Amino acid sequence: MSDKKYKFDTLTVHGGLNPESWYGSTLPPIFQTASHRFSTAEQLSDVFAGKVRGFIYQRLRNPTNEALENRITQLEGGVGAVVTSSGMAAVHNSLIAILQSGDEMISGNSLFMSTYLLFANVFKKFGIKVNFVESTALEEYEKKITPKTKAIFVESVGNPKMDVPDIEKLAAIAHQNNIPLVVDNTMPTPYLLNPFKLGADIVVHSTTKYLSGHGDALGGIVVDSGNFDWPNEKYPDFEMFKERAGEKAYLDKVWREIHINVGTSQSPFHSYLTMIGIDTLAVRMKRHIENVEKLVEFMVNHRKVKWVNYPSLKESPSYETVKKQFSRGCCALFTFGLSNQEECFNFIRNLQLVYNLANLGDCKTLVIHPYSSQYVSFDIATRTKLSITPDLIRVSVGIEAIEDIIADFEQALDKI
Ligand SMILES: Cc1ncc(COP(=O)(O)O)c(C=O)c1O
Repeated sequence: MSDKKYKFDTLTVHGGLNPESWYGSTLPPIFQTASHRFSTAEQLSDVFAGKVRGFIYQRLRNPTNEALENRITQLEGGVGAVVTSSGMAAVHNSLIAILQSGDEMISGNSLFMSTYLLFANVFKKFGIKVNFVESTALEEYEKKITPKTKAIFVESVGNPKMDVPDIEKLAAIAHQNNIPLVVDNTMPTPYLLNPFKLGADIVVHSTTKYLSGHGDALGGIVVDSGNFDWPNEKYPDFEMFKERAGEKAYLDKVWREIHINVGTSQSPFHSYLTMIGIDTLAVRMKRHIENVEKLVEFMVNHRKVKWVNYPSLKESPSYETVKKQFSRGCCALFTFGLSNQEECFNFIRNLQLVYNLANLGDCKTLVIHPYSSQYVSFDIATRTKLSITPDLIRVSVGIEAIEDIIADFEQALDKI
């Protein structure tokens, strides 16, 4: 691609492609090889020593994965990215590159289940203390900051609490205290929100969701804005990475120190599928948003539905932040309540078109009862704290004809 500044929708189709070096192929070839051959020992040594950029071994770097890194970097407006084997690997790597034993971080408490468990249990085992705060309560973040706080983490739209923190204000608080803000932007995708434009420093995604978009490829990515300068007094172990990689110091640390040694490498086939998925991101997201708004309206007005939680609704506590932060919708996920768990189970049993499964961001409309599935092993107090109640169903609205989605919900509600 030339250096011309293309619009977002064009970048979703052309970003990261390099047909000239792929025999004219318009799709990234799947470089399905564990390692790459070098003609001379000198050449291999130069790549290992970082004198020449090249591909050595799939766990380190892979050309198909690099195409995906380049595309998502362009969509988020960062300086670079590291693709990982899952969204959870991206969340882990993004923070473990910053934190060490004895450090603290602050996280909004509105989190995807495994992210919560990673912070509450796994980080704790390694001596990292995660202070959880109400995701949207900015004053709580300020109160929890100590000299040991090295990172702040939030989901741009909390899954499944459906709350939206003010990224701009949170970034300001973080920066006043020389702390980077890490944002999980899985739910809106860069089509609906660019956290870097609001001051966030690092973005992570589960590419498994809307980016790949078809429920076919697991993956994750860490994207760096290149804007945080990692002051030596607070982040002394960044010094050598700053010398080596300049504005890409953080990414170099994520890649060199964590990614290649933990072995969180992505399968090139999954990167290939994700690239094809992103080709249609803009049109899919537009349709997801049109559909979710219509389904939410139907649900709000249905007499058997007790409540609906969608951040764009006027009744949502996040409404004002959504209005300020998003211009074309905030996400295609919402939750709603029936009388109790039994009614939820009946509703799900009655569905004919919509799938009951543990994923989101697919073209197909999906539902799940989180209380009895993803969160079933959590004690009740924790489930309550995370707003996971027995009456709650989560809906990931797909891109089918909205009339068919509504008809399926209607007949399933009628039967309970
Ligand atoms: C917001 C969010 N972040 C991270 C993840 C983890 O992603 P993955 O399943 O690709 O590891 C998920 C999964 O649902 C998610 O919803």
